[in-house]
Amino acid sequence: MKIDFVAAKAEPTSTTALAVLAFEDGEFSPAAEALDTQLGGALKRAIAATRFTGGAGQTVPLLGVAGAAAGRVVVVGAGKQAAFDAKGAESAGAHAYLAVKETGAERLLLLMPPAGPERQAHAAFGIRLAAYRFDKYRTTEKPEKQPSVTAVDIACDDPKAAAKAFKELSSLADAICFARDLVTEPANILYPAEYAKRVKALTKLGLEVEVLGVKEMTKLAMGSLLGVGQGSVRESQLVVMQWKGAKDGVQPIAFVGKGVCFDTGGISLKPPEGMEEMVTDMAGSAAVAGAMYALASRGAKVNAVGILGLVENMPDGNAQRPGDVVTSMSGQTIEVINTDAEGRLVLADAVWYCQDRFKPKFMVDLATLTGAIVVALGKDIAGFYCTDEGLATNLQTASTDTDDALWRMPLPPQYDKLIESHIADMKNVGPRQGGSITAAMFIKRFTNGLPWAHIDMASTAWKPNSSVPTIPSGASGFGVRLLDRLARDYEG
Ligand code: BES
Ligand code: MN
Ligand code: ZN
Repeated sequence: MKIDFVAAKAEPTSTTALAVLAFEDGEFSPAAEALDTQLGGALKRAIAATRFTGGAGQTVPLLGVAGAAAGRVVVVGAGKQAAFDAKGAESAGAHAYLAVKETGAERLLLLMPPAGPERQAHAAFGIRLAAYRFDKYRTTEKPEKQPSVTAVDIACDDPKAAAKAFKELSSLADAICFARDLVTEPANILYPAEYAKRVKALTKLGLEVEVLGVKEMTKLAMGSLLGVGQGSVRESQLVVMQWKGAKDGVQPIAFVGKGVCFDTGGISLKPPEGMEEMVTDMAGSAAVAGAMYALASRGAKVNAVGILGLVENMPDGNAQRPGDVVTSMSGQTIEVINTDAEGRLVLADAVWYCQDRFKPKFMVDLATLTGAIVVALGKDIAGFYCTDEGLATNLQTASTDTDDALWRMPLPPQYDKLIESHIADMKNVGPRQGGSITAAMFIKRFTNGLPWAHIDMASTAWKPNSSVPTIPSGASGFGVRLLDRLARDYEG
C-alpha cells in the first residue's frame, strides 16, 4: 500500500474517497467542519439520519454529494476528542481504510485533525496493518473482488514531519507483515530449510544469521529438538539471529521461538478436524524473526539474540514413539509420553542453547504451545509466565502499550511433580488440567535459573474472524510489536 503525507489542501477527484474524522459529543475535526460548511451541511444532515455518535469505528458514507469533488465522502468516528491518542489515530486510520477499500474508490484521502506528526504517522501505521493481504496463491481472483483502493494520501498540517515520524513505524509494519507472511505460508512451501533461507535474507538489514542443521545439532547433543523432527523428510534447523546495536560486550537480551512448520501431532496423531491450522505452529518463531527485523531496521541500541527452533512434526516409520526417552542438550532426560507435546521439546534445547552460548540478561520464549491456554484465556489474550519481577513488569507495560494482550499465569512449585517420570528426569506432559502451566514448568527446567518469561500464544497467533481493524482475519503478527517495545527498556 502506497501511503503519502500531503498538504491539507490536497485535491480530491471523482475516484477519491474523502475521509474526515468526527468525535463523540458532536465534535467535528476542523477538516470535517470545513467540509460540512462547504457542502451546505450535508455531513451533519447525513449523520442526523443515522445512529452515528462518533464512537470509534463508526462510519457514515455519503455518495455523489452535490458540490463535492470526491465521489465518496465518509465520516469516521474517532471516539472522545480529548482521548484521541496514537492508538486512536491508528484505529481511525484503519477504520477509514476498511470503510472504503472495496467501494470502487481508487484513492483514500484522509483529512487528519491537526494533532501532531506522531498521530498522523500512527494513522498511516494503522492503514498499513489493516491493508495486509496474502494473495500470492490466488490466480483467478476477479479485479472486482480485490481492494479498489491502491493509494492513500494523509492530509495534515506538516506532511514532512509526519513522514519522518512514520519512518520507524513503517519498518515496524514491514516486520509485522514479514511475520504474518511466514505464519500464513503453507507447510509444503515453508519447511525448516526454506524458512531459514528467508531469515538468512535479513542479513540485508544488518542482522547476523547462522543456520545449524542436523549435523551441527547432533554435535551439540540436542536430542530433544532432533527427536521431534526425526519423522520428517524436511531437515530440522536452528536459526541464530544476532542484532548488535550496542557496544561489544554488552549483555544481550534474547528471544526464542517455537517454529513447528507443521504439527500433525506425530505418532500421537491429531484428529483431522481443523488440523490445517497447525500450519501456524511456527508463529512464536515468526514473532521472534519479526521482532529482530524491527530492531535491525530501526537501528535499536541494544544487543539482541533471536533463536528459532524449526522442525516438522510428522508420523513416520522413523518418527519418535510415545514412551521414547531422549537426552536434551542440558543432559536432562525426557520421557516422551505424547509426541503431540512437541513444542516444549523443541524449546528445551533452543532455550538451553541460548543461555549456554549467550548468557543473556533474560530470555523470552514465544510458542503456540497448548490448547489449554485457549481454554483458559480465549482467543484474544496470550498467557505469560515469568520468573523475574522486573521483566514481568516490563512485559506487562509493553503489552499495554502495544495491545498485544498478555495475562500473567502462575508457576506453582507444587505442580512441578506433575511432570515427574518413572523412568527419566521428567515426562513431556502432565494431566489435562493446568496443561499450559505444566508446559511452562517443563520449559523452566531448561532455563538454568536465568530470568525468563514464556508466552503461550496458541490463543492469539491466528484470528479466523478478527474484529480488530488493524488485524485482518488470519495471521495476527502477535508478538512482534510486543518484543520490539520490550527491547526499548534495555536500550541506551
Ligand atoms: N501446537 C499445539 C498447540 C496448539 C493448539 C496451537 C491449538 C494452536 C492452536 C501443541 O503442539 C499441542 O499439540 N499441544 C497439545 C499438548 C498436549 C498433548 C499435552 C495440546 O494442547 O493439546
Ligand atoms: Mn503438538
Ligand atoms: Zn505444536
